[in-house]
Amino acid sequence: MVSTISYGELNPLGLNRHKIHNGAQQMMTKTRVFLFFVATAFTFPLTSAWAAERAPDAAHGKTLHSKSCMGCHDNSQYTRANRIIHTFEDLSARVKFCDAAANADFSPNDLNDVVEYLNADFYKFGK
Ligand code: HEC
Repeated sequence: MVSTISYGELNPLGLNRHKIHNGAQQMMTKTRVFLFFVATAFTFPLTSAWAAERAPDAAHGKTLHSKSCMGCHDNSQYTRANRIIHTFEDLSARVKFCDAAANADFSPNDLNDVVEYLNADFYKFGK
């Protein structure tokens, strides 16, 4: 992968690689390459852990919901007259909150699936 990075990108001072005889400068270049990889290695898993990776699946959401979400309330919570959810964003936030309350430990995809299920069957917000 090192060979795919052009030297110029990592060399903001415009130093010509063939003219560098100074070991310290070569060290600095190596350090930059190293830091670039460290930054990349830590950034990718983090971003992918937060972003859902596929389209939401309401049927899977329903299964997860039956398994983990009926401990404190049943479905009548979602259709009660004084319900606290008024937008799709409210619903996403509440599902995350209740996921923590339920100790369900849903992945980002799971959270999206449950939101999709609740929205399709009860809330019917436009997105
Ligand atoms: C630890 C108890 C508990 C568990 C487990 C729980 N909830 Fe809740 N949930 C509540 C309470 C309490 C409320 C009502 C909060 C209020 O009225 O202010 C609520 C309300 C909600 C609402 C809003 C209802 C409305 O007013 O429209 C949604 C949506 C919801 N829960 C989803 C879930 C989902 C999804 C799960 C499973 C991940 C879950 N809940 C598991 C306690 C829980």
